[in-house]
Amino acid sequence: MSENGKNIDDEKDKETLKQENNLNIELNENEELNKINEIKESPKEEKLSGKNNNNNNEDKKESEEEKKLIQNKRKINKPDISSKASQRKRKKELSHKNDGMCQYFFKTGECGRKDCQFSHDIKTYLSTAKFFDTPCPLYNKYGTCPSGFLCLWGKEHIDFDKIELKKNEELIKKHPIQKELNIILGEDIHKVRKGNIDFQMPGEYPKPQPKILNFENKLILPSLCTFANLPYRRIVKKFGCDITMSEMVMSQSLIEGKASEWALTRKHPSEDIFGIQICVGEKTKAYKSIKLLDKFCPETSFFELNAACPIDLVYKNGMGARLCEVPKRVETLLAAMRAATNKPIAIKVRTGKDENTIAENLIPILYEAGAGNVSIHGRTKNQRYYRDADWDYIEECVKVSKIPVIGVGDIYRYTDFENAKKKGVCSVAIARGALVKPWIFKEIKEKIDYDISSSERIDILREYAEYGLTHWGSDEKGVNTVREFMCHHLTFMSRYVPVHCCLEKNLIPSLKTRPYEGICYRDEMEKLLASNKNEDLIKITEMFLGKAPDNYVFVPKHKSYTIINLLFKLLKVNNFIY
Ligand SMILES: Cc1cc2nc3c(=O)[nH]c(=O)nc-3n(C[C@H](O)[C@H](O)[C@H](O)COP(=O)(O)O)c2cc1C
Ligand SMILES: [Zn+2]
Ligand SMILES: [Zn+2]
Repeated sequence: MSENGKNIDDEKDKETLKQENNLNIELNENEELNKINEIKESPKEEKLSGKNNNNNNEDKKESEEEKKLIQNKRKINKPDISSKASQRKRKKELSHKNDGMCQYFFKTGECGRKDCQFSHDIKTYLSTAKFFDTPCPLYNKYGTCPSGFLCLWGKEHIDFDKIELKKNEELIKKHPIQKELNIILGEDIHKVRKGNIDFQMPGEYPKPQPKILNFENKLILPSLCTFANLPYRRIVKKFGCDITMSEMVMSQSLIEGKASEWALTRKHPSEDIFGIQICVGEKTKAYKSIKLLDKFCPETSFFELNAACPIDLVYKNGMGARLCEVPKRVETLLAAMRAATNKPIAIKVRTGKDENTIAENLIPILYEAGAGNVSIHGRTKNQRYYRDADWDYIEECVKVSKIPVIGVGDIYRYTDFENAKKKGVCSVAIARGALVKPWIFKEIKEKIDYDISSSERIDILREYAEYGLTHWGSDEKGVNTVREFMCHHLTFMSRYVPVHCCLEKNLIPSLKTRPYEGICYRDEMEKLLASNKNEDLIKITEMFLGKAPDNYVFVPKHKSYTIINLLFKLLKVNNFIY
């Protein structure tokens, strides 16, 4: 019996997991709402382990809130159903396309499992497979292609007579593909799924010893759902970002052994200081998920508690920004997290719910509670992303904080960074500024406004495509995933207003400054890169990823995004959902 009450053939499950986990990172379905849907549809964690631990009243209260939420959620989600459902259907179709094929064999030409139940019939596959005529972006650099026979550019590296994969030993030596880290093995994920982990739950969490996490003058890319994916983080590392963070991961999904959630904890070797952010509201889940992360993701420098997410479903579920109003629960969660690992624990907060309150109630207790540093997004939960970040309030928080403060909000130029530093923060995290211009870290370090050319921006996208294909695969499913993520990134990158335009039109770079008709584009490519029309985004991806399938549709992160932008356009207001 599996944790969700269905009979599962253990061996088959294990086999599928190995395939899923070792070779094929599941489509990244981690939009916040999807995550919350998963939480609601999942069994309670106690059922998983069969052991009930020290859930207190607070946890029970949250469960009551949860029940109400399931009902609310159904109402709230209704308008979005068509686009989300069609997206899911498309993903499902794609994942079924490879059904029955031994992914390992089709990618590497070897399998090694005597009793493998999946097809190894490459000959039949090759007789109908269609390939692009252009060179494989990976084989030509690395001398080998991780997607092997399944690569859409496979023509170049498949020996059709011998039914073998070609290799270029010279390139393999020159550019070895660096292995991703923090990869949990299939059998371990299986154990987690089955609840076969002995967590050795402590009766009571000890009072944590303070453990300071000093990021003095380090530039940080904070957690960004969907956007802080591994290929993107590789890009910002190259531009001088010092510290990278995973996307927000849901503790419950980790505890349930969801492969797609565990995929978010992977990191690239270039990410030398890497943190994983968790979203959790119950101490038992906090303890268990950190225990699991500590064990299976050893290449992590620190963990961060999310007390900043403003999404109603997270908030009403006692997680994210809700925590800013219940310091007692923050204390409990931090104690549980600290008890589960020797690594430092950070916390990310908003300034309050609808008013700035944390300087009084939360910030002063964080040192004794065991947090190593605190990132403060200078807006209240209800302000979401609309108003300017309140750096004066961040300064007030710095004054009452006993731990280093990282300021977050509205850094679009090196001058913004320098003004932010004057508020006494230890360091600064840059979110949307880094999505619009991933090279902002270089600008800050060199104290310049970098007038980047369109061809340099194309090079960044080419690099993203290469990293994406390495991470998600260059088979059909992988390429579609890279295309989808690139489109997401382009919705931000298209907001970049080139430096020369700002100078000419006297514009100050911010998220409210947008390229517009009649602006001084130096070339056609610069103009194309400023477009946020779906067909243009797809056209740009085709430069690196080949022609998109005829039925390809890109649905921006939130459907409302386009509607709100349209509204703003009609009202001639420059404002955005993010
Ligand atoms: C698309 C998007 C996704 C985000 N996801 C997360 C998240 O998962 N966890 C988190 O703590 N903050 C998240 N944030 C908030 C950012 O980390 C950051 O605090 C906020 O955007 C303010 O910084 P900025 O003004 O530099 O964008 C997200 C922001 C955006 C725009
Ligand atoms: Zn096989
Ligand atoms: Zn290839």
